[in-house]
Amino acid sequence: MTIIDGKQLSETIKLEIAQEVAAIKAAGGKIPHLAAVLVGENPASQAYVGSKVRSCEQVGFQSTLVKRDASISEQELLSIVDELNQDPSVDGFIVQLPLPGHIDENKVILAIDPRKDVDGFHPVNFGRMAQGMPSFVSATPYGILQMLERYNIPTDGKHCVVVGRSNIVGTPISILLSRKAKVGNCTVTLTHSRTKDLPAETRRADILIAAIGIPEFVKGDWVKEGVVVIDVGINRIEDPASKKGYRLVGDVDFEQVAPKSSYITPVPGGVGLMTVTSLLMNTLKAAKKEIYP
Ligand code: GUN
Repeated sequence: MTIIDGKQLSETIKLEIAQEVAAIKAAGGKIPHLAAVLVGENPASQAYVGSKVRSCEQVGFQSTLVKRDASISEQELLSIVDELNQDPSVDGFIVQLPLPGHIDENKVILAIDPRKDVDGFHPVNFGRMAQGMPSFVSATPYGILQMLERYNIPTDGKHCVVVGRSNIVGTPISILLSRKAKVGNCTVTLTHSRTKDLPAETRRADILIAAIGIPEFVKGDWVKEGVVVIDVGINRIEDPASKKGYRLVGDVDFEQVAPKSSYITPVPGGVGLMTVTSLLMNTLKAAKKEIYP
């Protein structure tokens, strides 16, 4: 069993990005600039955005954090999006989700200029991704592809079972892995809350991707020997023994599943760190105008 070390892999990729940034700087070019919009006080969102801003500093990017109270109106938020769309100094930006209930997330996503949509959430990027055209691929699926590629895990002809059909992870990764591509050519089963006999489906997986947001949901007897497990879940569970009062666990019961796996991602230290790194990769692509020349 090999643990896919998201921390080490993300450090390697960040070093590669930092070297490119240093070269751009040395040549007198413009330093890539990522902006993040954070609305409200959701602790997980604050932690994610904090990590994104810190990672920008690590690789030498410029970063801007736009922080607003949860009471912001939809119109005000749309104005901020428009300003970022127009600002030539900003190469890419994200609006951290979820947004407060009175704001229509789809409206906000649609307002983002696809050329600056480094989250890959805009339907133009999603559609381009689905058709195999150059696009910003959303950070978590992109991070998963990087993990499979850099650990040389074969995907060709494998049966991949994805648990969870979210717009951000389950649906895009199922499309990406089924596509004719270097990391792809899987036969994909996309499962969800209405799937009948889920353990029977997951037991057929050569590659299992768990992205449902339920702590330790996938059990040991749900997988076959030798499975490759990508655990996307980051769930807080109460833990009085911890200083913070909680600890992080994935969507997979690691203790039960790891002994049967050929490869597995841990939580924390797995997919989560790769997600932030993928966002940096997309921002570099935006700055270099690789997707939209
Ligand atoms: N909320 C949870 N994951 C993400 C993400 O990747 N991007 C944004 N903008 N919001 C999120």
